[in-house]
Amino acid sequence: MKKFILAAFICAALPFAAFNYAQAQQNAGGGNVKKVLTVYYSYSGNTAKTAKQIQKYAGGDIFEIKIKHEYPSKYDNLLDQAKKEIADGFKPVLASKPGNTGNYDIVFVGSPVWWGTIAPAVSAFLSEYDLSGKTVVPFCTHGGGGISRTFDDIKKLCPDAKFLQGKGFNRSNASENEISDWIKSLNLN
Ligand SMILES: Cc1cc2nc3c(=O)[nH]c(=O)nc-3n(C[C@H](O)[C@H](O)[C@H](O)COP(=O)(O)O)c2cc1C
Repeated sequence: MKKFILAAFICAALPFAAFNYAQAQQNAGGGNVKKVLTVYYSYSGNTAKTAKQIQKYAGGDIFEIKIKHEYPSKYDNLLDQAKKEIADGFKPVLASKPGNTGNYDIVFVGSPVWWGTIAPAVSAFLSEYDLSGKTVVPFCTHGGGGISRTFDDIKKLCPDAKFLQGKGFNRSNASENEISDWIKSLNLN
């Protein structure tokens, strides 16, 4: 009888042990879990908020692109300076750099829409970091004008990356459901 109880206990426990072993393997990086990085620039906080929600659902690391120069505090002057920088193809000097983008398989790249394209800080980042061979997922926040040319311009700056369906968000109004449904639809792992 004792032997029977012991055998029944082992049979019941085996699936749990196997599951925990698989989890441990994944946690130790031994599974096929892809390494994710969310990189973003945000001037007034909307893209930062969205990026943090993306990281919440996609996992991995997050990196904020920062630049060395400051923009004028007056909104009209900011618009003028940004317009000129974009027209000139100006690339600001980056104030912070991620350790090693080579470690990542999937890179979410986010920008506010500025004059229909990505902010110069994001152009500077993509010009400096080679994302060839990685899977890139573009996202942006905008003031109602939609994604405009942002995703095309990100693609131009990483021509040898594979792209998944990106998403544009109207300022920071994206609901968490919208973000989590989009992340699920990407089937990242
Ligand atoms: C310089 C500048 C240019 C902008 N150009 C556009 C635009 O072309 N289309 C649009 O829909 N919104 C535009 N916006 C609005 C921003 O894309 C929107 O507010 C965005 O969510 C800001 O993101 P952030 O808070 O992360 O900086 C512009 C904002 C600025 C400051």
